[in-house]
Formats: sequence, C-alpha cells, structure tokens
Amino acid sequence: MSSTPRIVLLPGDGIGPEIVAAARRLLDALGEFEFEELLMGGCSIDAHGVALTDAVLAACRESDAVLLGAVGGPKWDTTDPDAPRPEQGLLGLRKGMGLYANLRPVRPSPALVGASPLREERIAGTDLLVVRELTGGIYFGDSGRDGDSAHDTCEYSVAEIERIARAGFGAAQRRAAGGGRSARVTSVDKANVLETSRLWREVVGRVAGEYPEVELDHLLVDNAAMQLVSRPAEFDVILTENLFGDILSDESAMLTGSLGMLPSASLGEAGAPGLFEPVHGSAPDIAGRGIANPLATFLSTAMMLRHGFGRADEAERIEAAVDAVLERGLRTPDLLGGTVAPAPTPENPSPESEVGTTEMTDAVLAEVQLDLP
Ligand code: IPM
Ligand code: MG
Repeated sequence: MSSTPRIVLLPGDGIGPEIVAAARRLLDALGEFEFEELLMGGCSIDAHGVALTDAVLAACRESDAVLLGAVGGPKWDTTDPDAPRPEQGLLGLRKGMGLYANLRPVRPSPALVGASPLREERIAGTDLLVVRELTGGIYFGDSGRDGDSAHDTCEYSVAEIERIARAGFGAAQRRAAGGGRSARVTSVDKANVLETSRLWREVVGRVAGEYPEVELDHLLVDNAAMQLVSRPAEFDVILTENLFGDILSDESAMLTGSLGMLPSASLGEAGAPGLFEPVHGSAPDIAGRGIANPLATFLSTAMMLRHGFGRADEAERIEAAVDAVLERGLRTPDLLGGTVAPAPTPENPSPESEVGTTEMTDAVLAEVQLDLP
C-alpha cells in the first residue's frame, strides 16, 4: 500500500451521498487519505446505462479500499429481466474484486439495548459475527426465464467452501485471542434438504480439524433463525452461505435496535482491497432531509481502518466515539423508533435528543478528536 491510502468512495443512491460525505469528514479528521469519488448503482444507470462500469470496477481493484454508501431505490425497481438494476453493481463489485468473505459484526451499543425489539435480558451480552460467503451460491448460479417458469441455481465447490470456512474459523480464533473468550463457530445450512448444504457441512467439518481450539456446531437455517432471537448472546461466529447469510444478518442487525447501526466488511485474498459498507439500504424515503444515521458508515470506516489498513487503534477510537455519543443520548430519528424525544427533567437531565446527520457527525468528530494523542 502507498503511504497515503487511496480510497474509492461510492456514495451510491438515496442517503448514500449524505453518509459517505460524513465518513469523509471523519477520515479527514483522523489523517491523510486520498479519495476518488465514483458512480455506482442507480446513479450510474442514469449516467451510463449500467450500474457498474468497467472503469469504476478497475478503479476499485486498483485502490487500497472501497467505501460504499448504499444503492437502489424505487426509481430503478423493476421486474423486467432485461432492465439494469442498481444491485447488479454491488454484485459485480463483489465478484469482480473477489470479495468472498463478508463480515457483519453485531454488538449492540450499551446505550441502545433498550431500543431492541427484544427484551434487554435477552440481548445483554450479545457480541456475534456473521461470516457470510459472498461470491457463490444461488446469487451467482445459472438463472433465467423459460416461458412461464424461472430458475435460480445454487452451486458450491469444495474450494469455495474451504476458503470461507477458513475465514470463519480464523475470525473466531482472533476474537477469542482479543477478548478472552472461547472460540465457537456455528455453521448454518439446510443439510436435511439441500445437496449443497450437505457438501457445506462435510467440508466445514473437515476444515475444523485445522482449528482444534475452535469449537464447531451445526444448525439448520430455520432453527438458527429461531435461536438468534431466543438466545443471541450464546452465538460467537455464524458461518453460512450467501443467501442464508443475507437473511440472518438482517435478523441479527435488528438485535441492535436499528438496522442503521450495522457495519460490514467484504474481503478477498490477503492484500487485495476490501469493500466496506453499512448493511442498511439507501432509505430513499428520507434521502436529502439531513436526518440519515451515519453511525453504521462510521463503524464500517472503522472496519476499513482495521481490516484494510491494519490501523486497529483508530478503529477502536471511532467505535468508542460512537458508543460515547449514544451514551450522551444523541439519536437520529431511526434510533428513536417513531417516539418523540423526551424533555429534560431534574431526574434525567440528558435524555435522548433527536439530531440530524450533521450534528451526529460533529459529535462523533469531537469525541474522536478529544481522544487524539
Ligand atoms: C446485502 C443486500 C444485498 C444482498 C442486495 C442489495 C443485493 O441485501 O448486502 O445484504 O442481497 O447481498
Ligand atoms: Mg441483505
């Protein structure tokens, strides 16, 4: 990597430009970075007729890391199989950059446990990581329409399963080393029905032999969906294939009380640039109103610093700043769940207060800079 990291910014659609601009301010406060801002998603369809141009893919591959806002919106929603869709840009990036490992950590911020739809005692202590296979399975198998029927094919090779399994076991090992916990991988499949799942289970079991200190168990995906809401705190690493990971990661995100809080990293081979993005979507209904929650993008920026640039100290500084502003009661509207922020009282002088993107960003910046050496 060059001394000044080169980051491609893909703001995308909806609230994407607002939250990526906020992240850019955060990065500028932390140090020196080179930015290149490019079109991907619906905005690229409008400009070029495709969601991802070859030039943008090439720029991403040549960068040190890619930070993405969100793509999509009603303007480009269609069931026409021949029309371009914003999501194709994201899938094209994943495939074109070889980003087979998607990491989605779920750790409810202490100040937000009350915002979870689950009872506090259920989610207390939840700290899990979804490791989702990202470039295979039904997302990338043969698909099409034939007269009045349609098909999507799910396919996995041993090599694809092996490398994502190693990513999962490796992550469990590192989490245990960092946090004094025992390492456990829960592999999720549908081995009672699907052949790809039976291969998955076999290969994951074999790879587990390389990691004797990591405990492995297997869950069927329907059971996993249930256990996630009934005993989330007992999970460590959830290792799963592409489609199941898509679904379970949204479910896990809700444990934190807001989809607006969940970051993600998509990684390929060691040394190749990764892609970092909030898990939430483009929220077209609130775009341009200055109320988008930038926190998941800040936490994704932290993942970029940690996984992309090996700058774990700064990552932790951002994570601590996010916790601190939430602790002080600052809330974008999505974190208030439709309720009106209460007025201060003598018993509770700093209750939750509703803020917009700029105020939230200012507060996080102030925390991060307070903390600078
Ligand atoms: C995600 C999203 C994407 C996916 C969509 C936008 C293609 O839901 O990153 O989880 O299904 O992978
Ligand atoms: Mg999803």
